[in-house]
Amino acid sequence: MKALVLSGGSGTRLRPFSYSMPKQLIPVANKPVLEHVLENIRSIGVTEIGVIVGDRAAQIEAVIGDGSALGVDITYIRQESPDGLAACVALARPFLGDDDFVMYLGDNMLPDGIQPIAQEFAARRPAAQVVVHKVEDPRSFGVAELDENGGVTRLVEKPQQPRSDLALIGVYFFTPAVHEAVAAIEPSARGELEITDAIQWLVARGDDVKASEYQGYWKDTGRIEDVLECNRYLLEGLSSEVLGEVDGASVLTGPVVIEAGARVTGSRIDGPAVIAAGTVIEDSHIGPHTSIGGDCTLSGAQIGYSIVLGDASITQVRGLHGSVIGRAASVGPSSIDDTHRRLVIGDHTRVEVAA
Ligand code: TTP
Repeated sequence: MKALVLSGGSGTRLRPFSYSMPKQLIPVANKPVLEHVLENIRSIGVTEIGVIVGDRAAQIEAVIGDGSALGVDITYIRQESPDGLAACVALARPFLGDDDFVMYLGDNMLPDGIQPIAQEFAARRPAAQVVVHKVEDPRSFGVAELDENGGVTRLVEKPQQPRSDLALIGVYFFTPAVHEAVAAIEPSARGELEITDAIQWLVARGDDVKASEYQGYWKDTGRIEDVLECNRYLLEGLSSEVLGEVDGASVLTGPVVIEAGARVTGSRIDGPAVIAAGTVIEDSHIGPHTSIGGDCTLSGAQIGYSIVLGDASITQVRGLHGSVIGRAASVGPSSIDDTHRRLVIGDHTRVEVAA
């Protein structure tokens, strides 16, 4: 059994971050989403992993390398343009050979694990096994209609009147039968080779296509709101570990991780919160549900339910909430006077300020 992780794509919904980094490297609980994905795959005993990468290949390779640090063996597969999830399967055919494989979207988080689903697939080996999850409004998802035995009778992409609340989420198990389906389908109206069409092709041919329900926590981290919410969920499972320096004037409450080399003075940190190595926090109030990346400087800051990426600085600004601050960004007081707000912000950036 192999794995195919899709880490190309355009990531338009995650602008402005996706202008300068692949969205799969956005940190959740201070670890790139893609690393969480690879660990999840390793936990089902699969170590031979093909990773589809687009024009951000170099950044992904710089972070993940050959996978050995994560106990997996990575083969990078370059996709020239984001032609669809089924196009990724076709592109990876030489890597996949005639092995069964799990296909995993590199921006999807299933932190409660997929072991039981992987075992189900290994035991029954249907042509394809999709992972589904109950959602409140299925109209923006691929939706699976099932018979009473968990067999898929129909897949419908973004139905206006859904006949089931089971959305396809970012994990699929396949036997090599999928390659015939991928070769047979045509691009969709949006010009992509769709994996739902390939699976529907198998259903229509009468192949055994099963669905397994994932009942744990799931997030597609394609949008900022979802990244923040996923960060909150993962931090809920945090255990305290203080390896950096915390002075006597600081107060830590709840689960707080302070990595070695971080320094906290005169501050309050309400967990769950994680502060990465090299970061300096002074006279600030951090948390809860906040991740601060490495080598940041926070001084006179107050920030909760947020993610700060590496090398950023926040000086004398309070009341930050639900924020994501990019790498080496700086947030500070007005240089004009205290009635002005001066913004130097990049394309497709979003700023919300109190009226
Ligand atoms: P999406 O999030 O559906 O697509 P996207 O990356 O283009 O994002 P957006 O809608 O914000 O523009 O893709 C799901 C995952 O699959 C994601 O990790 C990117 C990856 N992917 C590829 O690797 N190749 C592709 O051709 C496509 C369409 C997606």
